[in-house]
Amino acid sequence: MSGSKSILVTGGVGYIGSHTVVALQNQGFDVVIADNLSNSHRFIIERITAISGVAPRFYEVDMCEKEQVRDLFRNEPGIVASIHFAALKAVGESVENPLLYYKNNLLSLINLLEVHSETGVNNLVFSSSCTVYGEPDTLPVTELSPIKAPLSPYGNTKQIGEEIIRDSVQNTSLRAIALRYFNPVGAHHSSLIGEFPSGTPNNLVPFITQTAIGKQKSLKVFGNDYSTPDGTCVRDYIHVEDVADAHVAAMKRLLETETGNFEVFNIGTGRGYTVFEVIRAFEEVSGMKLPYTIEPRRPGDIEKVYADTSLSNTILGWKARKNIMEMMSSAWAWEQKLAANK
Ligand code: UD1
Repeated sequence: MSGSKSILVTGGVGYIGSHTVVALQNQGFDVVIADNLSNSHRFIIERITAISGVAPRFYEVDMCEKEQVRDLFRNEPGIVASIHFAALKAVGESVENPLLYYKNNLLSLINLLEVHSETGVNNLVFSSSCTVYGEPDTLPVTELSPIKAPLSPYGNTKQIGEEIIRDSVQNTSLRAIALRYFNPVGAHHSSLIGEFPSGTPNNLVPFITQTAIGKQKSLKVFGNDYSTPDGTCVRDYIHVEDVADAHVAAMKRLLETETGNFEVFNIGTGRGYTVFEVIRAFEEVSGMKLPYTIEPRRPGDIEKVYADTSLSNTILGWKARKNIMEMMSSAWAWEQKLAANK
């Protein structure tokens, strides 16, 4: 593509961002990345180039610094839309340091919206989360399920982010889509990009792969007395490549069709798995047995949540394609590749 029409991906060096840049470039989009590399690694940019055969234009920009955002848009007058991933995402850290989360996640969004307005760029895709549904009253959750009181400052930044966008579209030409991801896991099938948890992982799948590779001694299962088939919590795990494809579908909808000003879509598979089912799937694809202990429930965990995906399936024309085995095998291949590179 000429570069005359470009997509800005903030946080494009991160986990979901990097997979989305690959998916966009594979579909012929011209991509500009803004990332402050605070929780991502520069070599991922070369990996993105290796996978897609195209080098994205990279700017080391802190989205909380409005002048930097302005400079970026000045340098890239072809930007017609943004996908906003740049945010902090560790739930526990957000409880320890709520102001850091409110400042970082909300200021970056506000700066982006203001610069969109200043430059007349009208299209935005926002990274939201199923965390907005809290403990749902009925399953599966639809986009009309009630929004619940947030369980953490991190979760609250997603809720407030959606509200800021909902209010902003009222009196501007902005059109936005929020994608509420369920539990993104796995890695690109090339094993060149994947998730890099900093420190001890909080999330289940990186903890599983790090236990298998020997970085963690044993897996902790947080609670086996929930009211679920085997007592462990149920989540809707979704392959990160499917999540990336959902962004391409959302971007095409914004750029190619007349849409409402603000639309929200669930991005999941529609199927829930328990923690034990995930462990068993990993054991099957890896041929390993994982040591684990049953631990008390983790504060703030919800019992079960999975998506009704009919809206994204019909309106976005998108559907998750990869199953739990592909999620586990790609996560495992990525962890092994990381270990081999050291
Ligand atoms: C978590 C966040 C959510 C965020 C998402 C990002 C919390 C409470 N929620 O979702 O807001 O959007 O990450 O990916 O942190 N588990 C274990 N042992 C572990 C780790 C997890 O048993 O070592 C269990 C958890 O209790 C849960 C399931 O595995 O039942 C999934 O946990 P996790 O991967 O952390 O995701 P969520 O908690 O669903």
